[in-house]
Amino acid sequence: MVYCSIAPAKLILLGEHFVVMGKPALATAVDLYAKVCIERSDEKWIESSNLGEKTRIDSQGVPEKFRQFQLIAKMVEEMAGVERGFYARINSDIPVSSGLGSSAAVSVAFTHALMGFYGVEPKLEEVNRVAYEAEKVVHGKPSGVDNTVSTYGGLLYYRKGVFKRVDTGVLDECTIVIVDTRIRRDTGQVVRKVLDLISRDDVFEKIYDIAEIIVEKALDAVSKRDLHRLSILINVNHGLLEAIGVTNYETEYAVHRLKELGALASKISGAGLGGVVYGLFNKPIDKSLFKEAFDKKGFGYYIVKPVSTGVKFASI
Ligand code: MEV
Repeated sequence: MVYCSIAPAKLILLGEHFVVMGKPALATAVDLYAKVCIERSDEKWIESSNLGEKTRIDSQGVPEKFRQFQLIAKMVEEMAGVERGFYARINSDIPVSSGLGSSAAVSVAFTHALMGFYGVEPKLEEVNRVAYEAEKVVHGKPSGVDNTVSTYGGLLYYRKGVFKRVDTGVLDECTIVIVDTRIRRDTGQVVRKVLDLISRDDVFEKIYDIAEIIVEKALDAVSKRDLHRLSILINVNHGLLEAIGVTNYETEYAVHRLKELGALASKISGAGLGGVVYGLFNKPIDKSLFKEAFDKKGFGYYIVKPVSTGVKFASI
């Protein structure tokens, strides 16, 4: 028997970085997925088609990028009260180290599939708890927003481990375009850089307070279907990300090109310093519009939709 689970990517609409210090964020699950399939084996193997690598996690010297799976296996085996060999195959259409929560989605899907494999009921609260511990192994000081969105799906208002599901409101009338600069970076490193910067001057406290106000206002704008106001707030949020040092030439290029192409709002999503940028359009858009702007830069682009369901079992 093979147990497969899929978990969606997350797109932070507003609040990344500030959320690490306890401010709120607004994030949605989108229709790009990580998939993990697990079957019985003699040893414990993880194979990642995205990394083009496989490794045993039940022996000495597990490579760093696979350590989170060791922790997840240990936690799930403690719940199951047994330990068996397995072969886990990871397949993901979420670009890695880009800001779309690929590591969290893989951890969530792996935890869910492994619970299925061990006959443990995959309660979402438990999946999320385990995946959060795995995220600590990967990033050091995660806010928990990535694993929470991947686990539960939907549009979430998130703060300090507590979240509330929000109606997608005006987002239903928008087209969301993600541009991937394909500059890969380590989320943990970018977070540490920001924490170091903000410790140097108390002006950043005010910036963090404004970030909080912006998310509260954005929440209101989403529910009141006020796209104009939401767009202003998203653009201001991007300015705050510039202020804490996580934009660069390529992300600014993507932000400004999206606006030239008609986006009402565009901003970095995720850790920044590369990774992805998103644009919000008030009408349906043909993907070919982005060819001229982004192909020559080597950027990827996706049109995504918010999805209301998080991790779930899937067919092989
Ligand atoms: C990473 O997807 C988002 C950050 O806010 C870090 C975190 O929330 O853990 C930069």
